[in-house]
Amino acid sequence: MPMTQRILILGGTGDAAKVIDRVATLPKVELIASLAGRTPKPNIPTVGRVRRGGFGGVAGLAQFLQTEKIDLVIDATHPFAAQISHNAAVAATQQGIPRLLLNRLGWQRRSDDCWIDVADQAAAAAVLPGLADRIFLTIGRQELKAFAHLDQLWFLMRMITPPDPPIPPGKVLLQQGPFSVEDEKALMQKYRVGAIVSKNSGGNATYAKIIAARELGLPVVMIPRPALPVGEVVHDVDAVVAWVERQLESRQAPRRDASV
Ligand SMILES: NC(=O)c1ccc[n+]([C@@H]2O[C@H](COP(=O)([O-])OP(=O)(O)OC[C@H]3O[C@@H](n4cnc5c(N)ncnc54)[C@H](OP(=O)(O)O)[C@@H]3O)[C@@H](O)[C@H]2O)c1
Repeated sequence: MPMTQRILILGGTGDAAKVIDRVATLPKVELIASLAGRTPKPNIPTVGRVRRGGFGGVAGLAQFLQTEKIDLVIDATHPFAAQISHNAAVAATQQGIPRLLLNRLGWQRRSDDCWIDVADQAAAAAVLPGLADRIFLTIGRQELKAFAHLDQLWFLMRMITPPDPPIPPGKVLLQQGPFSVEDEKALMQKYRVGAIVSKNSGGNATYAKIIAARELGLPVVMIPRPALPVGEVVHDVDAVVAWVERQLESRQAPRRDASV
């Protein structure tokens, strides 16, 4: 009799919601989705169980995997959520549980883009003086402090929930995407921004600002992805579903009797 497989999906992204919808249609699976719990209106799965909030580091996650008898882990968190991805890699390895990372591809620079590639947030802050006086800082709320010392500049800062101090000088906009290219262009023009700072998140949900900057001829200071943990990585939802199907097949195939 095939056994039901319990799958933990670390989510918080649109792709995670799609994975949940697709994997839920497979036979003999039970899903638990985990959200960081920071977004007031997250993509809440309509199937399976949902838990919210941190596990308490690697040890807490390893304990959760054991207590909940998790068979497979799918890490479908944001490409910049490096800590939880690292924790998932270590905890799943410790527990001997197969884990897959869904890491959507980053945006590729086009010949008509004006990107300034930097190593990290601190390097992004370092290139801003002299580049423009008014900056659209679209990196979310967690890394604003890297820009807080730039008191000669003015920042338009967009995020979903209010930031904690220190906050760079300027205006905070509390908004949740997706945004259209036309809206992004209008926003950049209204606030007369001369440059943008963005993380290379990839995907469509926030790409409109990159197109808008291109069309307005504005430079984009682009912050690269954090390093990936060791392990199997795929880039789209179809590949996740195929991986789960392979895992289910291999677990549900009848075992050979070693004496035969
Ligand atoms: N996570 C998202 O959904 C998300 C969405 C958009 C952008 N980002 C960007 O990613 C960067 C880091 O964000 P972050 O703080 O969310 O990630 P993170 O730095 O990787 O995670 C920090 C801690 O949050 C908890 N956590 C994160 N995702 C979780 C999940 N799905 N389920 C349970 N706990 C989770 C874990 O706490 P414990 O150690 O206690 O387990 C983790 O150690 C920021 O640049 C942010 O803007 C993240």
